[in-house]
Amino acid sequence: MRLTERIRYVGVDDMRTDLFERQWPLPYGVSYNAYLVVDEKVALIDTAAAGFEDELLSNIKNEIGDKKIDYLVVNHMEPDHSALQKVILDEYPDCEIVTNAKAATMIEGYYGITDGIKVVKEGETLPLGGVSLRFHMIPMVHWPETMVTWCEEEKTLFSGDAFGTFKAVDKNVTDTKSGIFEDYKAEMTRYYACIVGKYGAPVQAALKKLNGLEIKRICSTHGPVWENSIPEVIALYNKLSLYEANPGVCLAYGTMYGNTEKAALALAEAIRSRGIPCAVHDLTTENYSFALRDVFNYDTLILGSPTYNNGIFPPVRQLMEAVVDRLVKGRKFFAFGSFTWAAASVKSLNELATAAGFEILSEGMPFKQGYSDDKFDASGLASLV
Ligand code: FEO
Repeated sequence: MRLTERIRYVGVDDMRTDLFERQWPLPYGVSYNAYLVVDEKVALIDTAAAGFEDELLSNIKNEIGDKKIDYLVVNHMEPDHSALQKVILDEYPDCEIVTNAKAATMIEGYYGITDGIKVVKEGETLPLGGVSLRFHMIPMVHWPETMVTWCEEEKTLFSGDAFGTFKAVDKNVTDTKSGIFEDYKAEMTRYYACIVGKYGAPVQAALKKLNGLEIKRICSTHGPVWENSIPEVIALYNKLSLYEANPGVCLAYGTMYGNTEKAALALAEAIRSRGIPCAVHDLTTENYSFALRDVFNYDTLILGSPTYNNGIFPPVRQLMEAVVDRLVKGRKFFAFGSFTWAAASVKSLNELATAAGFEILSEGMPFKQGYSDDKFDASGLASLV
């Protein structure tokens, strides 16, 4: 698809993979975006995941026919974008890979390719004829080798995973139709929380580095090409990477026999009755990525866990560890849950939340055995507004 005379979208939609990175559900699919810059020389920017060889090559040939690709620019080495490097080199044997030194070692490590690699440094440019490409390193957004490619003449940023989102592009290769950003916002937040969430500080460094660019088009590796929603997309990334959140509650729980669930629903009803948004997630039936998304959305985290093996019920521990791993900051915290003979889960959750620097709203609401209304005690949540 032609984005401009020179810039073409040749990415693919993946509607058949259930789990991205074998762990994150894809209810709406995902895209692996690749782009051509067609000038006197032709550059391909990134490839796609394994299994999409024919589609990628067909998309390329639809755009350039028998013309050759001169350069394969590698912005990011995660295999969802790098897996087809050899396919491209087999089809275009004179094609030179253009990337940075860290990526070059990964290209050898993953694919055994050592020849025909041009290594570029921060700020270096690659002339293509009428336009040129300039490279800027943005380490840890999402891997240490990650860089972006800037085409000054087209005011286009090829941003790698930055500003990417789950949810296939389908017909929305660009965001020209109104409402596209809103359609993707939840999946963009979930993508950020799952994939990039640990790297808030590097994302901030990247945003500062790219701040001076007069960007007309963001071509990410996942999701729509952003043209009309650039301020909104950058604002969302800025907010998420600062760990800023909206007033509201992410209430996530695990339950074995339904008692902690009853308490969760009673707490959610009490919170909502005060006009406070409250997203509820049952971690025993739902992948924890959806709760993790709402940890990034809301300023209060409430976790419910029965005591299990004198500790935290494993699905709840998994979410809490993901929150800690991502260095989430500035959340208010409350825990609750059933125990049978020893109350351990709430205490353990409070310890993890304290270590994460969260504001512990109260000692929480542990309750013995079955749940009933007389065990309800949300006094610790009185300060929520
Ligand atoms: Fe979409 Fe970090 O790869």
